[in-house]
Amino acid sequence: MDKRNRKAVIAGNWKMNKTATEAAALIDQLIPAVQGADCEVVICTPFTSLATAVEKCRGTNIHVGAENVHFEKSGAFTGEISADMLTDLGVEYVITGHSERRQYFAETDETVNKRTLAALAAGLKVIVCVGENLTQREQGITEELVRSQTKIALLGVSAEQLANVIIAYEPVWAIGTGRTATSAQAQEVCAAIRKVVGELYGEEAAKGISIQYGGSMNPGNCAELLAQPDVDGGLIGGASLKADQFSVIVEAASKG
Ligand code: PGA
Repeated sequence: MDKRNRKAVIAGNWKMNKTATEAAALIDQLIPAVQGADCEVVICTPFTSLATAVEKCRGTNIHVGAENVHFEKSGAFTGEISADMLTDLGVEYVITGHSERRQYFAETDETVNKRTLAALAAGLKVIVCVGENLTQREQGITEELVRSQTKIALLGVSAEQLANVIIAYEPVWAIGTGRTATSAQAQEVCAAIRKVVGELYGEEAAKGISIQYGGSMNPGNCAELLAQPDVDGGLIGGASLKADQFSVIVEAASKG
C-alpha cells in the first residue's frame, strides 16, 4: 500500500479558540466549503464546543474530535474529561500528546501513552503528536527523539488498534510561528516515523498508517508538504479557524 491507498486526513486543531456560539458559525461556513472533499476532514474543538459540533456535523463529511482526554475512566479528577464522555457525545477523534500539552501542562511520554490507550479502548480514533523543539533539532537528535516519543506513545497498542491511530509530526519550532518545516524536513521525519511503526508492527502496518505534518501549514505551503510520499495529511492550527483557508488545504489533500 502506498500513499495513493492511504486516505489523507486533514484535521483542524482549534486549540483554545471559539465559544460554542462562534464554533457554530464557523461550522456553518466549513460545511459547504469542504463538502466535496476526497480526504478525511476532522475538526478538533474545545470541550465546550463538542456537543454543538457533533450536532452540526451530523450527516456531513466533517468528523469531530477533542483536543485531549484523561486516561482514567471516571473518578476524582476535577476538571478532566474521560474517553467515555467523548464517545457518548458522538465524538470520533481525539488528539493526544500535543506539544502545548507537553509544554504547559506537564504531559510526558508516559501520560500520552496512557491517554492514547484509554482513548483507543473507548473506540476513539487518536491523533498522537510527536515532534522536537528547536534545541533538540539543533542538537541533531530529532530522529531519535521522535522515534522514542512514537514508541512510548504506542506501548501496549495492539496491531488491531493501530488502525485507529494517526501520528502527527509537529516540530515544536514550527507551531504557530509561521515558520514551517521544509517539505524535505517534513518528509524525512515522517519517513522515520513510518520506519519505527514498521519495526514495531510490520511492513503492512507501516504502509497503512496515516502520518500527518503539522506546524504552520497554510494554503500557500500545503500542496508541497502534502505531495511528500510519507506525508498523508495535516494537523492545522491557525489556518483551521478560517473556513476559506482550511478548505484550500482540504482541497490540496483531496488532489494528493
Ligand atoms: P499551527 O498549529 O498550524 O497554528 O502551527 C498546528 C498545531 O499546533 O497543531
